[in-house]
Amino acid sequence: MIDSWTFNKIAGAVLGTALVVFGLGELSGVIYATHAPEKPGFAIEVAEAATTGGETPATEEKPLSELLASADPAKGEAAHKKCLACHDFANGGPNKTGPNLWGVVERPIASHEGFAYSDALKSHASDKWTYENLFNFLNNPKGFAPGTKMVLAVKSPTERANLIAYLRTLSDNPPPLPAP
Ligand code: HEC
Repeated sequence: MIDSWTFNKIAGAVLGTALVVFGLGELSGVIYATHAPEKPGFAIEVAEAATTGGETPATEEKPLSELLASADPAKGEAAHKKCLACHDFANGGPNKTGPNLWGVVERPIASHEGFAYSDALKSHASDKWTYENLFNFLNNPKGFAPGTKMVLAVKSPTERANLIAYLRTLSDNPPPLPAP
């Protein structure tokens, strides 16, 4: 496949060069002009190589089920330390600046007793903290609920998956992981 493409490109370039050279004669300026059309050919080759060998963008687009299947709750537990300034994670623990997060996976959004949620988060109250909602919210809280009082974003998809895998364990009856 690649070989025939490469062959076609070389053949095309040779043919194109020949046509231009023969068609326009021996004016010296033409020789420079023949180099210009070759450049897009090179640019396209580079772009093709980038899309076929692109491992890095693929990570970003890994489905959440796959990220969660390989997530490490222990790493999530380490990462959740940055949440402790505002959240308590213990069963029956208090609300702090943010609501208590025991059992938050599959919990209705903005539903923890005694916490004064923002209208931004309350507007999602008919929905639940599914894995996907948590994943999107933690990536960009204000993108998920413009005006939310939750400010900390976790940009790394792997770290978010680890955190969510840890949150999942904070339950007497952890909900199943999403099917791959
Ligand atoms: C600076 C304080 C702060 C930090 C740090 C913080 N949060 Fe929050 N979080 C909040 C506040 C405040 C809310 C309530 C938001 C609202 O009402 O709009 C909230 C809400 C949430 C909710 C929604 C809970 C519900 O009952 O609907 C989740 C889930 C959450 N935070 C997860 C996390 C995680 C995970 C971390 C650590 C990676 C974290 N938060 C770090 C302040 C914080």
